[in-house]
Amino acid sequence: MTKTITVFRGDGIGPEITDAVLDILKAANAPLDFEIFDVGAAVYEKTGSFIPQEGFDSFEKNKVLLKSPITTPIGSGFKSLNVTLRQKYDLWANIRPALSNPALPTRFENVDLVTFRENTEDLYIGEEIEIDADTVHAIKKITRKASERIIKEAFEYALKNGRHKVTCIHKANILKKSDGMFLRIFEEIAKSYPQIEADSMIVDAACMNLVMHPERFDVLVMPNLYGDILSDLTSGLIGGLGLLPSCNRGDSYAMYEAVHGSAPDIAGQNLANPSALLLSACMMLDDLHEEESASKIRNALDQVFQEGKVLTKDLGGQASTSEFVAEIKSRL
Ligand code: NAI
Ligand code: MG
Repeated sequence: MTKTITVFRGDGIGPEITDAVLDILKAANAPLDFEIFDVGAAVYEKTGSFIPQEGFDSFEKNKVLLKSPITTPIGSGFKSLNVTLRQKYDLWANIRPALSNPALPTRFENVDLVTFRENTEDLYIGEEIEIDADTVHAIKKITRKASERIIKEAFEYALKNGRHKVTCIHKANILKKSDGMFLRIFEEIAKSYPQIEADSMIVDAACMNLVMHPERFDVLVMPNLYGDILSDLTSGLIGGLGLLPSCNRGDSYAMYEAVHGSAPDIAGQNLANPSALLLSACMMLDDLHEEESASKIRNALDQVFQEGKVLTKDLGGQASTSEFVAEIKSRL
């Protein structure tokens, strides 16, 4: 059955990679209809809001959103639209699978790990309090409810996907109450999953271990800030930001997006790698029980990687976005 999804084209490289991905989804005959909206800085200049009301309405109706990156102006008083969307729709689980592709040259082999990032609280609640002209306090919020649901989600995922280990990443040695509670909840929940190995690691040690022995990690679960930082790190393990997809999911809504941002340095030049957004669309197809379309697209992408002749610059090639897309389409 054809499913209607909402699409936000984003800004920076957003429109280019969105059009590329829609083109491939159509060529693969994925059973999808699209309601497409321009969002971001250009829309703000015209209308005074970053996302048109019709865009929100469409997402609320369809419940599934394929979203391209949106630029967040720094220091201008605007709250990040990405954070806003995650909080407004309670997209509490941010799932980011990093899988190395043997065909792509990277420093590491056999990376196959999945980050579960708590997506609604921690420092991202944006409560920064000016105590005086020279002092700011930022609030790190950790709750039992949000911690429990993301940790359970990570263990359930491990169980259903034949994974063997879940690692909790924290800084409970310093943040004894906030991260301390997150870690205690992890240890409590781990008892209900005796089949799955459970261990924990302090976030700084985790950074070192991830770049020394990434193959030792399996499923990782952590509060919001560490998840933001470590998942960019894990993208580096598999060949860069152009390859890392994600799903932001709650009880009612799901939003699929690349982990990377709007890449203003290469925007509008037909250089962007659309793979991360394409793989996010494949995660979406899997969740919509359209696994056949998803694997058709993943296979085509894999073939292009294996050939290694038509690759975008970030992957060491010379191809433009459109040449790369044409190559994928020819393998469908
Ligand atoms: P970025 O991820 O946009 O770019 C970092 C570097 O990676 C740049 O050199 C860029 O050219 C490269 N890169 C990223 N994606 C690529 C792709 N698909 N193909 C080839 N190269 C790629 O991070 P940056 O520059 O820190 O952020 C730019 C803007 O994006 C900021 O306003 C930031 O707030 C926003 N952002 C939005 C996100 C979202 O919408 N989910 C996530 C992260 C950042
Ligand atoms: Mg990030």
